[in-house]
Amino acid sequence: SKIGNGYAHAKIILMGEHAVVYDYPAIALPFSAVQVHVQVKASQHSTSHIDCQYYAGPIDEAPSMLANLNRAISLTLDSFKILSQPIQITINSNIPQERGMGSSAAVSVAIVRAICDYYDIDISDKQLQLIVNQAEVIAHESTSGLDTLMTSSNNPVIYRKSQTPRPFELALDAYLVVADSGQAGQTKLAVSHVGQLKDRKPELVKELMSAIGNFVQQAYDAISEKDVQKLGRLMTYNHYYLNQLGISNPTLDHIINAAWLGGALGAKLTGGGLGGCVIALASDENSAIEIAQVMQDAGAINSWYFRLS
Ligand code: PMV
Repeated sequence: SKIGNGYAHAKIILMGEHAVVYDYPAIALPFSAVQVHVQVKASQHSTSHIDCQYYAGPIDEAPSMLANLNRAISLTLDSFKILSQPIQITINSNIPQERGMGSSAAVSVAIVRAICDYYDIDISDKQLQLIVNQAEVIAHESTSGLDTLMTSSNNPVIYRKSQTPRPFELALDAYLVVADSGQAGQTKLAVSHVGQLKDRKPELVKELMSAIGNFVQQAYDAISEKDVQKLGRLMTYNHYYLNQLGISNPTLDHIINAAWLGGALGAKLTGGGLGGCVIALASDENSAIEIAQVMQDAGAINSWYFRLS
């Protein structure tokens, strides 16, 4: 009998988080070391069922934490006027949640793709993103659409709030190490903290933001000049400024310090902050392995690395 398959990967913000809220540029990357795979097949039951890490049972009775997935499913069926026989949706994901990796968008992307594959529907990227963004509104209230874009495409992008994201070529003789602090990221809290700081110290925050914006622009140039040393330094500067904005914490700083001392060309927190993940730039694979190890020794619960090409 027929099976539909759908896939998506995680995302990482390389530089520019938080400043991007104030319309400065940021750089984001697809991160395919962690992935979600979804299978759709005919249901054994009289109703559609979903099976994931948190719940297995009828979709209609799924807990509210899966409301966004439910929405992605019904939007897909409605959009393509599918009169669905009961289906069984099985989700396998190793993307950590609440780490700024875009896990919820990734699961929705994979679900929509799997349903379309099952029904032989050729969905465009635009249609896919429209559906997933609508589902993401349920999970995150407001969404920049960045997670949807990054988890469904293979290109790095540089983007600003006021502009459409621009994909670009990233091919460097260097490795990015990603380490999970084990603490949930707190994007909402961090964004509101920065907002409050801005109200109290507008000049300071404006200068920090505009400096971050400059680092991102310089990083973009360093990438096209293949200057990995410079990219590393810029990542490190970016972290100092994020720290000044108050969105790092002792756990993240400890792991980042370990990466610096362990030979990283640069290291910083990634995503919303106050927890979540940190990233480090390594000059070669051996160095990446060593940096991943020292980050784990410093408390990271998991780590990955990949070549920036
Ligand atoms: O934690 P993430 O990956 O969702 O990243 C948040 C990025 C911020 O700039 C802090 C917030 C935003 O909406 O852009």
